[in-house]
Amino acid sequence: MEASDRLVPIVDDLVRALHRAVADHQVTEPEWRQALAFLTELGTADEWVLLSDVLGISVAVDNNTYHQEGDETPSNVQGPFYRPGAPLVSPPVTLGRDDEPGDPCFVAGSVLAAGDHRPLAGALLDIWQTNHVGLYDHEDASQPEWNLRRRFHAGEGGGYELRTVVPGPYEIPKHGPVGRLLAAVGRHAWRPAHFHVKVSADGFQPLTTMIYFEGDPWLHDDTISSVKPGLVIPLAKHDRPDRLRARGLDRRFYTGAFDFVLKATRR
Ligand code: BEZ
Ligand code: FE
Repeated sequence: MEASDRLVPIVDDLVRALHRAVADHQVTEPEWRQALAFLTELGTADEWVLLSDVLGISVAVDNNTYHQEGDETPSNVQGPFYRPGAPLVSPPVTLGRDDEPGDPCFVAGSVLAAGDHRPLAGALLDIWQTNHVGLYDHEDASQPEWNLRRRFHAGEGGGYELRTVVPGPYEIPKHGPVGRLLAAVGRHAWRPAHFHVKVSADGFQPLTTMIYFEGDPWLHDDTISSVKPGLVIPLAKHDRPDRLRARGLDRRFYTGAFDFVLKATRR
């Protein structure tokens, strides 16, 4: 069998790193058996990807795959909670229910081409998020299926506008082997609040990314280390009665803006 030019040096490096750790820490046979049992349990619990996430490998591999250049929007990992086929809606776009609990939040922006910032009319946006207390629809029996998951097209000028609620921070699944590992090494499972977004347009590389919010308590301590400076936006709070009236609301609301800048497909 022919050896793979790419695999051989990677396996060599991994083996060298493991030998170094075993020697430096004088790992014993019972400890190594425990480690192997943990890896077996990871597979049974289908948590290999989650392990990759909390070790920061998923983000590193995402960066290697979709390296960001110039003014392009940085990519980010998809995470385990994406569901293809969210309801496709037309403006006015609302991600949640009419009476969705939490702080209403209006987000607007454009989908643009990297370089000349030409608007990409009709680009498809696919957004998913948790509710105000950090629960996705499938984790919360009080939310209808597909709640806070929508697809919609940018307008003729590449613009979009949506209404939603400010999502809450949340802990990643922590009742399996990965959660035990985090606890054993004194780490928490929290992620800062975020929107997940996929954006696609003909002739451009599809983008998967996340948007975070300034002031989030976990912004600088994300358990999957995925926060990037170009993906953090301020949310402006509005509570003046005239502003509430103009939006037809009886409680404070927030506004934010984000432009998605896509890289042309290489021909
Ligand atoms: C998420 O943001 O949905 C996520 C990403 C990685 C691990 C767990 C959750
Ligand atoms: Fe998420």
